[in-house]
Amino acid sequence: MMRIAHLSDLHFGAHRPELVAPLIEDIARFDPAVIAISGDLTQVASASEFAQAAAFLAALPAPVVAVPGNHDIPKVAILERMLDPRRRWFRAIAPTTEPGVILPGLAVLGLDTVRRAQAHLDWSAGGISERRLARLAARIAAARPRSVVVVAHHPLRHPAWAGDRALPAGADAALAAMQRAGVTAVLSGHLHHMAAPPGTPPVLIGGSSLSHRVRGVPNSWSLVDAGTAAPTVRVRVASGAGWRDAP
Ligand SMILES: [Fe+2]
Ligand SMILES: [Fe+2]
Repeated sequence: MMRIAHLSDLHFGAHRPELVAPLIEDIARFDPAVIAISGDLTQVASASEFAQAAAFLAALPAPVVAVPGNHDIPKVAILERMLDPRRRWFRAIAPTTEPGVILPGLAVLGLDTVRRAQAHLDWSAGGISERRLARLAARIAAARPRSVVVVAHHPLRHPAWAGDRALPAGADAALAAMQRAGVTAVLSGHLHHMAAPPGTPPVLIGGSSLSHRVRGVPNSWSLVDAGTAAPTVRVRVASGAGWRDAP
């Protein structure tokens, strides 16, 4: 069984506290092998938000692969953003922003798509440098012949309704490399809205699991079975103070 619990956009600091304990219970009920968290663990990357996120991660019932989102580097502390943008993540969450969990038939690999600054004005759009992509390709090769699932905050492919938003720099090259490498799926977030724009490898975009900034859609997480050629997804949505299957 190669079940991954996919959570995203927790946004501690702008989250719904009443959903936290039920979410941990709901995930445990499905006994996933790995828990993937596709970024935006905090709202403004403050120490207290990171502490809440770290406590949540520590309470989860399986190994975690968490990558940062654009909200997880300081925005106002511009000097820190430029000089040492991931310092707070390293202190609170993990010594790396590209963790991986390698199991007998499954590898779940984090890809950091956050950028501190970009040539255009939308600094939230992210990007994948050639160096990061080369490193990912080597990690995928080392994980073979396992099923490989990549976790990245920014979707590398957008659904049609998000077509006006900037894709992360280097998205096409990253997707092409992952297609060549036979990656099973890419788990992403950022849009706070579930989507699965068609293509290979599948890009599975999760909604926000805990944020109260959900733009009219319920909070959600999903159970992804990566053991088949085409991964299957079972979506759980918040309902009152609990969780249930999406209708
Ligand atoms: Fe977000
Ligand atoms: Fe984001």
